[in-house]
Amino acid sequence: MSDTNLEQALENVLLVLHASKSSAEAEKAHKDFLAGPLAAASKSIGTLPPEQRGSAGSALSKVKAEFEAAYAPLLEQLKAADARLEQIAEKVDVSSFKHALQNSAPVGARHPLQVLQADVAKFFQSIGWRIAEGPEVEASWFNFDALNFGVDHPARQMQDTFYAKSPEMVLRTHTSPVQARSLIQEGAPLYIACPGRVYRTDELDATHTPVFHQCEGLAVDEGLTMEHLKGTIDTFAKAMFGAEAKTRLRPSYFPFTEPSAEMDVWYPRKKGGSGWIEWGGCGMVHPNVLKSCGVDTEKYTGFAFGMGIERTLMLRHDIQDMHDIVEGDVRFSRQFGMGS
Ligand code: PHE
Repeated sequence: MSDTNLEQALENVLLVLHASKSSAEAEKAHKDFLAGPLAAASKSIGTLPPEQRGSAGSALSKVKAEFEAAYAPLLEQLKAADARLEQIAEKVDVSSFKHALQNSAPVGARHPLQVLQADVAKFFQSIGWRIAEGPEVEASWFNFDALNFGVDHPARQMQDTFYAKSPEMVLRTHTSPVQARSLIQEGAPLYIACPGRVYRTDELDATHTPVFHQCEGLAVDEGLTMEHLKGTIDTFAKAMFGAEAKTRLRPSYFPFTEPSAEMDVWYPRKKGGSGWIEWGGCGMVHPNVLKSCGVDTEKYTGFAFGMGIERTLMLRHDIQDMHDIVEGDVRFSRQFGMGS
């Protein structure tokens, strides 16, 4: 190999060395240069006439020295960079979600009842109603008296109601006391929905639980009739059960509505064929309720309804046993695609 060829080969290998991204790449370039151009040059010295061998040999040593001088610091730099990259790859970002999932306690899932309650609230907000709340430990006046329950009404019996230590307080047996609270606080006109937890002394079985959820609806305004009630619950039923759903009213009795009705929903996807299923109660707000909340009954009328959230969830998802809803197993919740 001529001197100029060797110079050229050195230039090339230096370019390769400087472009190396890891010590392994540089080591390979080093090995290739020694075994390739340098070995060839060294071999070719033997074929030269003796007088030229000396100068060719020193030219070769010079190239080799130049090459090694460039290689050594570069290799050191690349090795340091390799180590840094390794450290970065190993470093664990403890704030990363993936890390939290892998290394901490299992992440829970939002309970389908909570998700459904939020959906119900969203529906009422979408038709311009407000969401109202009341306490779960409620004054019995709000739970019963303001709602026109007589003192001897059977719902007041111990077998229905959880009484708190103070006889004036109960665990609310329905979300209807929020009607009275909101009317007193805000007056008419009023359009509210009140999703929330309620309590009755029922045993836990496939269809009952002592702690359950309802959503109350209340509209008080001038000129409201049963027709408005029917239109509202029909729209609500479609939002919950699909476009084919509709409601039907059956005459019934509640102390706080007159007339009163049970509302059934037509559920096309009901197991074993479409059909009517009881969904809740409703009616025109009894004038006594409006009066006890200070609303002018000459000017205003109102309608109200209340339905069970558990029942809605069980219908929508064909849940057969209340225990599944109550037990709080995240494997149950995850089936609904809720939570992570
Ligand atoms: N509060 C009643 C219940 O729990 C339902 C209802 C609400 C009925 C509003 C009429 C009007 O059964």
